[in-house]
Formats: sequence, C-alpha cells, structure tokens
Amino acid sequence: MNSTFNLYAKYYDLLYKDKDYERESEYIIKLIDKFRPDSETILDLGSGTGRHDLILAEKGYDVTGIEISEIMSKEAERNKKNIRSDRKVKFVNGDIRNTRLHEKFDIVISLFHVMSYQISNKDLTKTFATAESHLKDDGIFIFDFWYGPAVLTERPESRVKYLENEEIKIERHAEPFLKINENTVDVKYTVKIEEKTEGKNNEITEIHSMRYFFIPELKLILNQLNMGIMHFEEWMTGNKLSDESWYALVIAGKRS
Ligand SMILES: C[S@@+](CC[C@H](N)C(=O)[O-])C[C@H]1O[C@@H](n2cnc3c(N)ncnc32)[C@H](O)[C@@H]1O
Repeated sequence: MNSTFNLYAKYYDLLYKDKDYERESEYIIKLIDKFRPDSETILDLGSGTGRHDLILAEKGYDVTGIEISEIMSKEAERNKKNIRSDRKVKFVNGDIRNTRLHEKFDIVISLFHVMSYQISNKDLTKTFATAESHLKDDGIFIFDFWYGPAVLTERPESRVKYLENEEIKIERHAEPFLKINENTVDVKYTVKIEEKTEGKNNEITEIHSMRYFFIPELKLILNQLNMGIMHFEEWMTGNKLSDESWYALVIAGKRS
C-alpha cells in the first residue's frame, strides 16, 4: 500500500486537479450541521494531500489528518503553507488501522473511497476501531465507499484519462477486473508520464484493489464495535441509495 501510494502521490494532485474539493467540503459541512451541529474538531482518516482538510480549516474547523504515504503527507504539509485560516491543522504520517492520537474529535471523516481500500474484514474492522476510538461519545463518523449494488449492476469499465500541466503530460489507462467472490475490483492503472522539459518518458503500472460494500455488512461490523449507522445516502446528491449509486456515504455514531 505504502509504495503504491508513494508513486501515485507525485501525480495525484494533477490527476485530481478537476476534482471539486470545495463543493465536496461544503457537502460535508452541510451534513455536519445537520447531524452534529456546533462541531469544531475533525479527524480525517487517509487524508492524502490534505485538500479537504485545508478547506475545512478555512471554514472554521480544527483539522488533523492521518495518512500512510510519506510523500502525500509531505505534500499536505506543503499545501498547508498557503492556508488562509488560523485554525489548527496537523498532518500525521501513520496507518489508520492502528494509529492512536489519544485525542477525541467531534467528527471523523474518511473521504474519496479510503474505506474501499480496506479490502479485508480485518483491515476494515481495525480502521473502524480507529474511528471509534477517536470519536467523542456524541461524535459522528462520515465516510464514502463503492456501493455494491451499483458496482454489480453497472459493472466497472476501462477508462482513459489525459492530463497536462507545464511540466508533465499524463495518459492513464484504468483496466478493472471484478473479483466476484471477494467483493473487490482490481483496477490496473498504466500511467504514461512525459516530462516535458527533459523529454523523458516514464511508465508506471500499479494495481489498486477496491472493495465494494453493502449496508448490512457495514452495520454488522460497526455494531460489533458498538457503533451504529445513523444515515446513508448517495454521495453528493443526497439521493436515496439505489443500484445506480456507485458512490455511497454513511454516517455512523457510537451507541449509547
Ligand atoms: C484516493 S486517496 C484519498 C485521499 C484524500 N482523502 C482525498 O480525498 O484526496 C486514498 C488515500 O487513503 C490512504 N490510505 C489508504 N490506506 C491507508 C491506511 N491504512 N492508513 C493511512 N492512509 C491510508 C492512501 O495513502 C491515499 O492517500
């Protein structure tokens, strides 16, 4: 996992430069205002280059991110320098399956399919336990993931993405392999990178295994950790989950 993401990190912000982190952060804030108003502190599991976190800090929250990739964490630290906020922002280089900060938060978030990267029951349970142990008793845990009914209905398809900035040109092919009995999709990425100034070409191949989830299995694991699902919906639209909702969002809380 670490080395995959270390390679990936270099190109991550370019690959996702069009991803609307501002709108996504506003969506998360709306959910916070509805389900846990007056929240001030957020822990982000799998914070990547910190793009949600910096926006959330600018909107008035103290934010801590935990990220396994050293390169992504360093990039987050670099991005932090441009922040227009005096809220506390901290990035910790660590594994969300076992990091313990000995601090409780109003909100734990985990966004952009971080949970779907936890492909074994053990990893998922450990990550949920990390969320639980950092939540205040009335705190909420918000996460998104690939939604099983839609993945099996629509089926993953091959895709190509082209991107360019002043320094590099990228062509990324994504080829999915559905592992029907494991509830996972292995996405093979072939990334061709042209370094424009030096005229050098590189090619990176990597496989990201993504797990899709169903609500009852999430309930089962969360219940074992004394948590429960308070709400679920389609990511960003807020629509009811259906077999057309590839991305789902769950809000969980501790059971009293
Ligand atoms: C698709 S990225 C999302 C990053 C960020 N949340 C965002 O929205 O840009 C998934 C992230 O999860 C991180 N990740 C996956 N498993 C992890 C683990 N066990 N511990 C910490 N970070 C992890 C990866 O390193 C990667 O940065």
